[in-house]
Amino acid sequence: MALDRISLARFRNHADTALEGAAGFNLLVGANGAGKTNILEALSLLAPGRGLRRATLAEMAQVESAGGFAVGASLEYEGEPVRLGTWTDPEPNLRRKVRVNGAETSAAALGEWLAMGWLTPAMDGLFMGPAQERRRYLDRLALARDPMHGTHAAAYEKALRERNRLLADRRDPDGRWFDAIEAQMADHGARLAHGRQATVDALMARIVAQDEAPFPRPALTYAPGGPVGRDQFAQALHDGRARDRAAQRTLAGPHRDELEVYYAARRMPAAQCSTGEQKALLLAMTLAHAAMAAAGRPSVLLLDEVAAHLDPDRRAALFDRLRAIGTQVWMTGTEIAPFSAIEGTAAVWEVAAGAARRL
Ligand SMILES: Nc1ncnc2c1ncn2[C@@H]1O[C@H](COP(=O)(O)OP(=O)(O)OP(=O)(O)O)[C@@H](O)[C@H]1O
Ligand SMILES: [Mg+2]
Repeated sequence: MALDRISLARFRNHADTALEGAAGFNLLVGANGAGKTNILEALSLLAPGRGLRRATLAEMAQVESAGGFAVGASLEYEGEPVRLGTWTDPEPNLRRKVRVNGAETSAAALGEWLAMGWLTPAMDGLFMGPAQERRRYLDRLALARDPMHGTHAAAYEKALRERNRLLADRRDPDGRWFDAIEAQMADHGARLAHGRQATVDALMARIVAQDEAPFPRPALTYAPGGPVGRDQFAQALHDGRARDRAAQRTLAGPHRDELEVYYAARRMPAAQCSTGEQKALLLAMTLAHAAMAAAGRPSVLLLDEVAAHLDPDRRAALFDRLRAIGTQVWMTGTEIAPFSAIEGTAAVWEVAAGAARRL
C-alpha cells in the first residue's frame, strides 16, 4: 500500500485528524465545508511543490492556532516502511520543512519516494487559462519521471529574472555577467525543455496505448519557446542581447513554451471544446499520467469531486482503469452513492467539521 497512518495537525480546519487502514481506493465522504479537500491538499504536500491549491504556508496553517501545521504519513517502499513528514515552524518564520525517516531533507527529495498526481475542480480552466498554468501543470507531471525536474525549473526561473534585471539595468558593458547568467539559463533551460518534451512523449505513448472509449483521446504537443539544445540556446541568448534589451525582457526560452492539447478524433483545440469534453480530456491525461507514474515507485492519485460528475458508465470505466493502473487513489464526494461499485473494497471515512471517522 502506498500511504497509510496519515496525520494532520493544525492543518486548515483539521486540528488533529488521523487516517488509518488505507486501501487501494480511499473515499472521503462528507458535507460541503467538512474538510475533504483539505485532506487531499495535506496529502499533496508529501510531494515537492506547493500542494494542490498552490496556497501559502500561512493559508494552510489553522487560523485558530498560532503554531504551524504538520502532516505525516507512512509509506511502504520496496517492503520497507518509510515515514514522510512535512511541517512548518510557528510564525513569523514560516518555512516548509521535510523529514524522511526522521532525517531532515529537502521537499524535492519527497519525489524520490512517491509519485503524486491530482485532478481538482480548480483545474477545469487549464486549457482556457494562460500558458504559464499549462507549463506549471506539465512541470508537475514531469516530476513523476524526474524528481529533479522542479529544481531545474526553479533554477531557470531565477536565472531568467537575473538576466531580465540586467537587460533593464544596461550595466555590464563587457558582457561578463550576461555570460555567467546565460550559461545558467542554458544549462537548466535545456534540462527543463528536455524534461517537458520527454514527459509529453511518455504521456502520448500511454494515451495511444489506452482504449479511447469512454474518455476522448487527447493529443499533446510540446511547442518549445526557444532553441532546445543547451549550446543552441546559449548561442541564441548571446545573439539576442540587443533585441532583448530593446524589449526589456528575454524573448525566447522555456518560459515561452506551450503545451498544446487537442481532442484528437475531432482535431479540435481543447480550449474550443465543450466544458464536459475539456473535463474528459483532462481526466484522460490524468489517467495516462497515473499509469506512467505507477511504474517503478509508489504512486498516489488525488481525485477531488471527480466521480460524481461522471455518468454511471464512465464512472465504472474510471474505477476499472484506476484498478488496472494499480495506483493508490483518494477520492472525495458529498455522498457515498456514486462509489457504490467500489464501496466494498474501499477504505471509507466520513469527514465532518475537520474530523474523519473510519466507517
Ligand atoms: N487555514 C484554515 N484554518 C481553518 N479553517 C480553514 C482554513 N482554510 C480553510 N478552512 C476551512 O476548511 C473548511 C473545509 O474546507 P474543504 O475545502 O476541505 O471542504 P470540503 O469538505 O472539500 O467541502 P466541499 O464539498 O464544499 O468541497 C472550509 O470551511 C474552510 O473555510
Ligand atoms: Mg472540496
